[in-house]
Amino acid sequence: MKHLDRITFASLLGLLLLCGCEDEGMDVLDVEIPAGYALSAGTSTNFLRSSKAYDMEAPWVAGRYASRFTNGDGLYDDVRTSGNGLGGGLGPVYAGYSCGSCHRNAGRTQPTLWSEGGSGSSGFSSMLVYVSRKNGAFFQDYGRVLHDQAIYGVEPEGKVSVTYRTQKFRFPDGEEYELCAPSYSISEWYADSIRPEDLFCTVRIPLRHVGMGQMMALDTREIEALAAKSNYPEYGISGRCNYITEKGVTGVGLSGNKAQHLDLTVELGFSSDMGVTNSRYPEEICEGQAQVNQGSMMGLAYDQLDISAEDMEDVDLYMQALGVPARRDVDDPQVVRGEQMFYEAKCHLCHVTTLHTKTRGTTLLNGTHLPWLGGQTIHPYSDFLLHDMGSEIMGVGLNDNYVSGLARGNEWRTTPLWGIGLQEVVNGHTYFLHDGRARNFVEAIMWHGGEGEASKNLFKNMPKADRDALVRFLQSL
Ligand code: HEC
Ligand code: HEC
Repeated sequence: MKHLDRITFASLLGLLLLCGCEDEGMDVLDVEIPAGYALSAGTSTNFLRSSKAYDMEAPWVAGRYASRFTNGDGLYDDVRTSGNGLGGGLGPVYAGYSCGSCHRNAGRTQPTLWSEGGSGSSGFSSMLVYVSRKNGAFFQDYGRVLHDQAIYGVEPEGKVSVTYRTQKFRFPDGEEYELCAPSYSISEWYADSIRPEDLFCTVRIPLRHVGMGQMMALDTREIEALAAKSNYPEYGISGRCNYITEKGVTGVGLSGNKAQHLDLTVELGFSSDMGVTNSRYPEEICEGQAQVNQGSMMGLAYDQLDISAEDMEDVDLYMQALGVPARRDVDDPQVVRGEQMFYEAKCHLCHVTTLHTKTRGTTLLNGTHLPWLGGQTIHPYSDFLLHDMGSEIMGVGLNDNYVSGLARGNEWRTTPLWGIGLQEVVNGHTYFLHDGRARNFVEAIMWHGGEGEASKNLFKNMPKADRDALVRFLQSL
């Protein structure tokens, strides 16, 4: 399309590009392409490119916020023990032993089932496994999340293993790529074994913690306006909001792979992932399960809350006050070319480049106000909307058949891409997508089906040099 030539002056600050106008019947789409050196998250931007790039406080964090940030950081990273009292409360069953065990360096701990080549029956995995009956009901003896770890004397609920199907494909220019579809099963159930034909399970790898304060500060009216506008029939794209009711409030879901949460789920993370009880979830996660009534857990006293509301707010503050890494190598000619290809392939219709935070900033769990997050222009590369990503590729696509709020199995929230280029430095791997099935950027793109199909095909049909440039651009984010 002709108008794309104009993106060559993408490095002009605040350029407003009107594109797609020549297509009849299409809404006029204004794309604000940020200059390469534009700050990713306004005053929260940092300039690190090391393994600490996701895990450093924003420049405005000072005074008592700095000490609260440090406290939150500690609570987030400190390994929990099974004891009562400070730093205790882990388990009896759990999925991770600290928030940081799964979100290492505020990122995405390497999914270990992959690193073990698929056996993964022993040891720790940073994945979350959601289990239910085929009809969606939960198992009384297991709950919503499979807890594959347990404290001494208690049995883990079960162990996950995975097998992989791989298939080779070719780009039109002959270059080969391979996709790999995982298939999970669970064994070593602590109580009644669940037959594979009765079991439904879906697996998630952790999300990077880049820009969560900005995500919470988003003006949801802008997101709703995007949903109303995000309708590009010629590319088969139409995003929608996941409306969620939590704590009696209904709003636009923003966090999680299916935009299934209104907030940063601090209380849920402590309770459901680690077994750390708190004021919102005072009961042990295994309460009511067969194991609690068996001898193994008798004598263990779980009568006090394992973390206070004040400490949880500090964890909330820590996550929202993290800085967002600035882009790198923005003047490299290959990166510049790749940026043009990103728009040419219509990636930006979902991975929306520029959004704004509401003037007021955010309010933490107990009401502390963070005005610094307000009134910022940000570049998250996401519309935070749900899109049908298809069920076709290798017979499964990205469909996990799991419903979360309004999100159906084939629907996923556009993953924000800011900071993605540093994932390898921060976490030492390049596994992408909700379950980490993509082993690199090319595979991540080639899994896009459904509403992402047209965009994927635009990428697929590019000359190799342009595909490489697009990947290089992603590495600069
Ligand atoms: C067992 C691994 C594990 C542990 C432990 C864990 N998480 Fe997560 N976290 C995940 C996974 C997997 C997801 C993606 C879940 C989904 O979308 O279904 C996630 C998602 C999140 C998100 C949503 C992020 C976004 O960008 O939308 C937040 C916030 C979060 N976790 C915070 C925490 C906090 C706080 C703790 C500790 C209290 C914690 N997590 C402990 C694995 C873990
Ligand atoms: C129809 C909307 C849509 C379009 C168009 C689209 N994406 Fe995505 N993208 C998504 C969604 C939704 C996900 C999350 C899918 C999942 O995790 O299963 C995603 C995930 C990704 C990821 C993995 C992120 C991570 O951290 O795991 C990358 C990389 C990516 N997209 C790049 C691209 C590129 C490059 C293009 C253009 C060629 C593109 N996307 C076009 C919606 C879209």
